[in-house]
Amino acid sequence: MKKSKSPLSIVLLGSGNVATQLGIELKQQGFHIAQVYSPSMRHARNLADTLNSSAVSSLTKVNKDSDLYIIAVKDDAIEVIAEKLRLGNKLVVHTSGSVGMDVLKSISVNRGVLYPLQTFSKQRRPDWEQIPLCLEANSPMGKEMLAGLAKKISHEIAFIGSSQRKRLHLAAVFAGNFSNHMYAIAENLLMKEKLPFRLLIPLILETASKAAEIGPAKAQTGPALRTDNKILKKHAQMLADEKEYQKLYASISKSIQNI
Ligand SMILES: NC(=O)c1ccc[n+]([C@@H]2O[C@H](COP(=O)([O-])OP(=O)(O)OC[C@H]3O[C@@H](n4cnc5c(N)ncnc54)[C@H](OP(=O)(O)O)[C@@H]3O)[C@@H](O)[C@H]2O)c1
Repeated sequence: MKKSKSPLSIVLLGSGNVATQLGIELKQQGFHIAQVYSPSMRHARNLADTLNSSAVSSLTKVNKDSDLYIIAVKDDAIEVIAEKLRLGNKLVVHTSGSVGMDVLKSISVNRGVLYPLQTFSKQRRPDWEQIPLCLEANSPMGKEMLAGLAKKISHEIAFIGSSQRKRLHLAAVFAGNFSNHMYAIAENLLMKEKLPFRLLIPLILETASKAAEIGPAKAQTGPALRTDNKILKKHAQMLADEKEYQKLYASISKSIQNI
């Protein structure tokens, strides 16, 4: 059962997809978002207005008296922030799947990670209760604070070390990111025949449900698995003018056959 109130005061560093959705959820769960930092003042203010918070665009103006600092900026910028921000013993975490916890070493003696294993966009509110929250912290105080916060927003929380989390993120890129790219290619192929993408939606949903139910290896079907060579050849010919897609098709088909 979620509690509706919390005394924690939080500073959000970042105003993009994750900062927006996490900020909205944290506020809804009763946390106080004291400040939003983002290099673009317009972006910082947009999110701060949504969260009834204040906006800053300079790291020197980040307050020093909050309980938790969540860095949700692009991966390469975490280091940039770490070079400039000093928060003593305040708990500071980032939200990246692929960056180690110790990148935050110079910011604070108490550091951690809050990696939500889901895809986020500003425009779409996710179902936080179902999102696995992968946590890491280097101190008992950090572990307790992070676990307390995480339990209020999700039913799926786990402490996972940096190297396992990086592997998890790599797997997530294949499962989510690359799958979505395949949808984009499919949409492109359909557009050339003026066919709508929605025709593929039942197939996409059933593929995902089936993989969840019986496991992806057992769920695999298609011409590559059946070694239907005539069809494989025909598809290669159909992609003669789209060399990038033709290469991808051949390489993924080979991978399906190898596995
Ligand atoms: N999106 C996802 O699905 C997802 C899922 C799980 C974890 N994550 C992780 O969450 C983090 C944020 O991802 P996102 O998708 O929310 O990113 P995003 O939407 O692209 O937003 C990037 C943010 O980084 C800020 N930024 C860019 N350059 C900066 C710099 N040099 N210094 C400080 N801030 C800078 C931007 O600020 P301005 O707009 O003001 O320039 C913006 O607020 C990443 O570590 C990512 O790996 C993302």
